[in-house]
Amino acid sequence: MLTSRPHGLPRAENFRLEQAALPSLAPGEVLLRHVFLGLAPAARLRMSEVASYAPPLPIGDVMPCQAVGYVVRSNDPKWRVGDQAVAMAGGWQEYSAHPGDSLVRADADLAHSTVWLGALGTSGMTAYVGLREFGLPRPGETVVVSAASGAVGSVAGQMAKLLGCRVVGVAGGAEKCAYVVQELGFDACVDYRAPEFEALLRQACPQGVNVYFENVGGKVRDAVWPLMLRDGRVVLCGLISEYNDAPEAGPGWFPILAKRLHLHGFILSDHLDRRPEFLREMGQWIREGRIHPGREHVYDGIGSAVAGFVAMLQGGHLGKTLVKL
Ligand SMILES: NC(=O)c1ccc[n+]([C@@H]2O[C@H](COP(=O)([O-])OP(=O)(O)OC[C@H]3O[C@@H](n4cnc5c(N)ncnc54)[C@H](OP(=O)(O)O)[C@@H]3O)[C@@H](O)[C@H]2O)c1
Repeated sequence: MLTSRPHGLPRAENFRLEQAALPSLAPGEVLLRHVFLGLAPAARLRMSEVASYAPPLPIGDVMPCQAVGYVVRSNDPKWRVGDQAVAMAGGWQEYSAHPGDSLVRADADLAHSTVWLGALGTSGMTAYVGLREFGLPRPGETVVVSAASGAVGSVAGQMAKLLGCRVVGVAGGAEKCAYVVQELGFDACVDYRAPEFEALLRQACPQGVNVYFENVGGKVRDAVWPLMLRDGRVVLCGLISEYNDAPEAGPGWFPILAKRLHLHGFILSDHLDRRPEFLREMGQWIREGRIHPGREHVYDGIGSAVAGFVAMLQGGHLGKTLVKL
């Protein structure tokens, strides 16, 4: 649980591990035993005292995350003991109780449990909604994706490739860039830590950029901004470079006017009605092997959640960060 609010990067003393009794179930509720937790950067925003897309997490509350697990008790006839389900609001804990209607069935025949937290979970759906609703990439266009090796970016880039685009990733370091090109199939990937980053990005996007899928902000955004083309779309999904520090001043707005840019901030929870369509299409792509679920970094045991979370915020992993319980 959250015990104090961090300044900068979270530290172990901001959290406490507690034993609690199992929740009792109201009519229509289901008790889930978590098997994997899916850690996500947005939880850092909830730790601050300033409201963001959601109110600050109260001190003493369980840290939020998605979780996949098995039904161990059910007051909902649609769920039987042993069914596998995903809880959007599972939290950093071993069990959680939810109204049966809020759970998503995780079909083990379609994908391994962990994929239901990644490409078929919140991360994949964020990429899907961002592109389908706001990025609207057309065949032949250039799409740039930041945090390209991460859970959301890896799906966004692969999806843009499937839609016929030239896709350029941005990631931290040569190993991540090689993964993005060789395993995920992006056309190119540029290391934002390289001293000549801006020039390399320009070279990788010789026609300019039609769609920017923005996950990080800061210097990456500043380098993409002048490359945006007329009628370009900026899908503002996240700004992780600013979650631990004060926000930086961004680039000027004049290009939005002159280039008729479309800048869309979005939060997935406003678009959950698209889940059936997402599961149909992404499920098909995964089944056919056209979307690679991506690598995973798995921590062992509830006690490792803090270490996993802090490492993830610093770019310590390839792909989705998970905790196995
Ligand atoms: N709008 C929504 O509803 C929604 C939903 C889910 C996620 N998101 C956002 O999507 C973004 C990606 O989330 P994710 O779950 O896929 O996380 P992730 O990419 O798996 O992990 C975070 C990544 O951010 C990169 N990063 C960290 N600090 C950075 C910095 N200062 N500059 C540049 N890159 C940095 C790291 O990659 P490098 O090693 O490459 O730096 C790291 O791999 C986050 O901003 C998250 O908040 C938004």
